[in-house]
Amino acid sequence: MKPRRDTFAEDYIRETVAAVLDAANDSNFSQLELCWFEDVLNAYFDATVSSSSNIIAEARRQYAFRLNQAPAGRELCAPRRVSDGKSPVSIEDLRELADLRESVRHYTSEPVPTCVVDEAIDVALQSPTACNRVPWQIRVFTNSSEVHEIASIAMGTAGYIKSLSHIAVLVGDLSAYSHDRDRHLIYIDGSLAAMSFILALRAQNISSCCINWPDIRNREIRMAKRLGLQPYQKVVMLIAFGYADEDAIVPFSGKRDLESVRKFGELSVSGDEVN
Ligand SMILES: Cc1cc2nc3c(=O)[nH]c(=O)nc-3n(C[C@H](O)[C@H](O)[C@H](O)COP(=O)(O)O)c2cc1C
Repeated sequence: MKPRRDTFAEDYIRETVAAVLDAANDSNFSQLELCWFEDVLNAYFDATVSSSSNIIAEARRQYAFRLNQAPAGRELCAPRRVSDGKSPVSIEDLRELADLRESVRHYTSEPVPTCVVDEAIDVALQSPTACNRVPWQIRVFTNSSEVHEIASIAMGTAGYIKSLSHIAVLVGDLSAYSHDRDRHLIYIDGSLAAMSFILALRAQNISSCCINWPDIRNREIRMAKRLGLQPYQKVVMLIAFGYADEDAIVPFSGKRDLESVRKFGELSVSGDEVN
């Protein structure tokens, strides 16, 4: 916050400290995440050092034995200045990549190297997610019989399923949310990641096609069983990808014109009318 207050986060600092202390013994967390938790809490207790809040004082006592643990030389995973780097990608290049991307439904059997897939997933990982929870996984299938089976559980591939060479299942994870109101976030966060994944694939000359995941109970059950999904894990969409079969054709998919989707500051009624 600007300016920074000396008392904030009283509502949840106690549970945050407890969660961070627990996390140290939880092998599900990466080293980077543990450093991040610690550095943020250290920065928090620095920022609130002159607070008169008893809640913060008590949380500081509970956390005290960890304060200032970051070893010299390690990059701090705490708040930092906004980056001032200029974009290495021109708008023309980005536009060209966006134009190049098209939904391809026929692929060669050439395997996509794992490092190429990983690079694309790593780009997807940089996408924003609500509270930085990263509530998704990408399950990748490259074995053709598995690819065809997984694709067939979804709909939407009739007529070309046998031409698919790789398939990714984007799985959302609802376990990090305590409120019903947040149940859509896996679809939003997952879709933001999907777009980056798709563009990062295309930047490496790999084509792709999103495949709809329909909300149909028996298909949910089949996919959950096959992938070993937990009840809190939900499929967001499938993404077929691979090297495009150059003999195949793609449909013409003209887009709407800018004016039909862009509205600047158009309000229907005054603010008073909705209060
Ligand atoms: C969420 C989503 C679901 C889609 N599902 C399917 C599908 O099941 N089968 C299919 O052939 N294409 C599917 N597509 C691809 C669209 O048909 C395609 O994106 C659209 O026609 C525009 O073409 P373009 O991607 O080449 O620009 C899907 C796309 C999205 C974003």
